[in-house]
Amino acid sequence: MINSAKDKGIVPSDLDAIAFSQGPGMGPCLRTVATAARAISLSLDIPLIGVNHCIAHIEVGRWKTGAEDPVVLYVSGANSQVLAYRNGKYRVFGETLDIGIGNALDKFARGVGLQHPGGPKVEELSKKATSFIQLPYVVKGMDFSFSGLSTAAAAALKDHSLEDVCFSFQETAFAILVEVTERAVAHTGSEEVLLGGGVGANKRLREMLKTMCGDRGIRFYVPDHRFMGDNGSMIAYLGLLMFENNTITPVEESYIRPDYRPDDVIVTWR
Ligand code: FE2
Repeated sequence: MINSAKDKGIVPSDLDAIAFSQGPGMGPCLRTVATAARAISLSLDIPLIGVNHCIAHIEVGRWKTGAEDPVVLYVSGANSQVLAYRNGKYRVFGETLDIGIGNALDKFARGVGLQHPGGPKVEELSKKATSFIQLPYVVKGMDFSFSGLSTAAAAALKDHSLEDVCFSFQETAFAILVEVTERAVAHTGSEEVLLGGGVGANKRLREMLKTMCGDRGIRFYVPDHRFMGDNGSMIAYLGLLMFENNTITPVEESYIRPDYRPDDVIVTWR
């Protein structure tokens, strides 16, 4: 990052503000970057901007795809949420009650001896499946849960091939996500769906979302791979939107928020 800024001839005096992820995330990681951001802000005397990681995924996705007012499916290791903007905030329409879909896939994959990251390997193996196995399909209202699915998939290996279990795991988990996304679309009347987060790289998930959007006659947006998973540009871009709308973070309010929810943020840039 520092090298590529140097390569492009960017010097500290070019910076107008410094953005960092205030949360959600793991404390030690957030704290390290927050400390660096505070130091840069104070030493260069430029504004500090604490951004919400989930909203950064949404905004970089909107920017890169041109989606205007989408229902967003954000799926990563730790997070799985269905969101949309309504009345000044990104509202969470549905979310996981336990672990994110990425962690569920990784937990299962690790248990069966596949190397990290497990998601792509599960995707590969599922292509060689010959049959579908019934696994727990857990949707409660608009929320969902994956840890039982992960455990049941591991137990199913006693009687079924790894390929069939991988396939059934994906089909079940993704059907849950697509169902809740579709219900959010029906509720909001939105004509767009935007996919974000690292698990968005999965081709089967994309295919299922595309089918749902096609059936409803609405548009489906997927940003470039490098803007899907966690990336620095999404933090910088949301920082820029906030900066342009005078939303800065005083140092005394720049403490990290490991459980920072997207619906805690008042959106000043839309
Ligand atoms: Fe993320």
